[in-house]
Amino acid sequence: MAHDRILITGGAGKVATLLRPRLARPGRVLRLLDVRGPAPVEDAGDEEVLVSSIDDLDAMVAATADVDAIVHLGGQARESDAEEVLRLNAYGTYCVLEAARRNGVSRVILASSNHAAGFHTNHGVPDDGLPADVPGRPDTLYGWSKVAAEAAGQLYADRFGMDVICLRIGLWFPTPPGPRGLAMWLSPTTARGSSRRRSA
Ligand SMILES: NC(=O)c1ccc[n+]([C@@H]2O[C@H](COP(=O)([O-])OP(=O)(O)OC[C@H]3O[C@@H](n4cnc5c(N)ncnc54)[C@H](O)[C@@H]3O)[C@@H](O)[C@H]2O)c1
Repeated sequence: MAHDRILITGGAGKVATLLRPRLARPGRVLRLLDVRGPAPVEDAGDEEVLVSSIDDLDAMVAATADVDAIVHLGGQARESDAEEVLRLNAYGTYCVLEAARRNGVSRVILASSNHAAGFHTNHGVPDDGLPADVPGRPDTLYGWSKVAAEAAGQLYADRFGMDVICLRIGLWFPTPPGPRGLAMWLSPTTARGSSRRRSA
């Protein structure tokens, strides 16, 4: 049976908790990395737990060994001070990408946010959503750190040929949180609205 291993950083967080049963497959191992241990979930598959920090490059090199793909969710998930968001979301993402490169992991999915582009307008047309790959225009320090993370993904795609996908998540729930929330909702089961960043 084919065997693969996916590293999920922020493996104890809300997004990861919904992803774990959905990514479980026979022959697949999910390696959950976080600064805290994950809670048990129903219908989880084979899992490994690593308590470690994404801003520790040596630890990330160890964590990305024997990994086929990375789903990078760890870090500061809301507004904070500049030092915190840049250390965790910009430098932490660099550590994930650099560790992936050193271990030859060619596919990385980065969790970005609608806050990376929150100061774009849709010209007052509520249903006319922004294109998924509209340039960054952050509305917070957190959003700024997500633009920096996306740019790091672009660098590793352009320079090293890695396949880096940045998802600007708006709202992440199993079902849409009402009609107004639909515009921001990213379904955990069928993730759409991704922007793909590849080398030329
Ligand atoms: N939940 C949403 O609706 C939403 C919306 C937009 C973007 N996002 C993004 O998706 C990702 C996951 O969000 P979430 O809602 O699961 O957030 P969360 O806060 O529930 O999970 C983030 C996890 O990262 C871990 N973490 C913090 N510092 C770490 C470090 N130094 N090393 C390793 N792990 C660390 C935390 O312990 C936590 O478990 C984040 O990058 C967030 O910015 C989420």
